[in-house]
Order: sequence, then C-alpha cells, then structure tokens
Amino acid sequence: MSDQLNETKHTFDGIEEHDNPLPGWWLGIFYVTIALAVFYVPYYHFMHPEKLPAAAWEAENKAIAEKRQAEAEMAPAGPSLAEKYEAGGWQESAKADFITFCSPCHAADGGGGIGPNFTDDYYIHGGTFENLVNVINEGVPEKGMISWKTSLKPTQIENLAFYVHSLRGTTPATAKEPQGQKVNQNGEFIAEETP
Ligand code: HEC
Repeated sequence: MSDQLNETKHTFDGIEEHDNPLPGWWLGIFYVTIALAVFYVPYYHFMHPEKLPAAAWEAENKAIAEKRQAEAEMAPAGPSLAEKYEAGGWQESAKADFITFCSPCHAADGGGGIGPNFTDDYYIHGGTFENLVNVINEGVPEKGMISWKTSLKPTQIENLAFYVHSLRGTTPATAKEPQGQKVNQNGEFIAEETP
C-alpha cells in the first residue's frame, strides 16, 4: 500500500490512513455554489419570498380559483323554463307521464278530480313554471298531492310542469270548480276584478 499517493502517514493497528483529495474541478464547482448561495439565499428567501415553492403554489391555486369563479359568473345560465317550454319537444313524453302518474287525481284531460282542475285560470300554489315545478317536486302531502322528486327525473318534472301549463284554456270533459286564486298569463296571482 505504500505506493499509494497522499498517505497521511498515520498508522493505527497496522491500518494506514490515506487522503484521497477530491478532484480540483469538483471542488471548484463546490466553492462556486457556496459563493452563489450568499446571493441566492437572501434573494429568494428575503427579497422575493413569493417565488418559494409553497408560496408559488398557493398563489397559483388562488389565481385558478379566481379564474374559475369569474368563469362561473360569466357563464351563460342554461335556458330558462320559459325557453325550454317554447323549444318544445316535451309534449309527447310529458303527456304519457301525465296519463300514467297524474291522471288518477287530475283527470287525463286535466279537468280535475281529487286534485285541482288545470284548465282554468285558478291556482292554489301559483301557475308560473317555477310554481308548478316546485309543487310537483315537493307535493302538498297534507292535501293528498304526492311529492314526485324522488320518483321522477328533474326533466320529467319540468316537462310535466309544461304540460300542466299547456292544459290551461282547454276544455275538459268534466271541469272541477276553480280552486285558489286567479292568475295572469304568466301564472302569477292577480287580484280578482271586483264585479
Ligand atoms: C293522489 C292524487 C294526486 C296525484 C296522483 C297527483 N296529484 Fe297533483 N294534486 C293533488 C291534490 C289533492 C292537489 C291539491 C293540493 C292542495 O290543495 O294544496 C294537487 C295539486 C297539484 C298542483 C298544484 C295546483 C294548484 O292549483 O296550485 C299541481 C301543479 C299538480 N298537482 C300537478 C300534479 C302532477 C304533474 C302530477 C303527476 C306527476 C300530480 N299532480 C299527481 C293530488 C294528486
């Protein structure tokens, strides 16, 4: 072993200690990084702390959240119930659903029975599309009107509201006497004209 370079001349229990110096190029890079750290640490940690990963991540998330919120606010709302009503395409399936689920109490032609007549201008709970969707969804359990939101899909319920609306002004075989208050063309309650 004595032919090795850089012996430290330190021997203990017959074991010779050697000094294997790191290559000059490696040490050179190492000293450069130390020199750079003197500038780097104050620069990132104290002058521009927002560039640290945690802060950058937080800032990016915040920007994304703000962008999403702005987009949600800008996004055009889906078509209104009135627009869907005008668009049509609901008549057939709504009529079939009405016959199946609603005719036992409201009559197949909407003339009424256990439930109110849909062909007149009078409503108990209001006649706007929103009123109709709401009452079909929630029902009026204490009065015998079932809540349909668990058994029918939201579109089916909307379409049934359209169908109920479309029955207004038609002539049923037997019309139940009006119940509730008179509504205007949009289905909103109006004060009755005094005779
Ligand atoms: C078991 C009988 C029954 C069935 C089935 C039924 N309804 Fe009714 N419905 C009623 C009764 C009773 C009322 C009146 C509630 C009240 O007095 O507040 C009513 C009220 C309504 C009203 C509110 C009317 C108003 O004047 O404000 C709408 C709309 C309605 N029903 C739609 C439907 C639709 C659509 C279906 C089928 C999916 C349906 N109903 C099925 C019994 C029924």
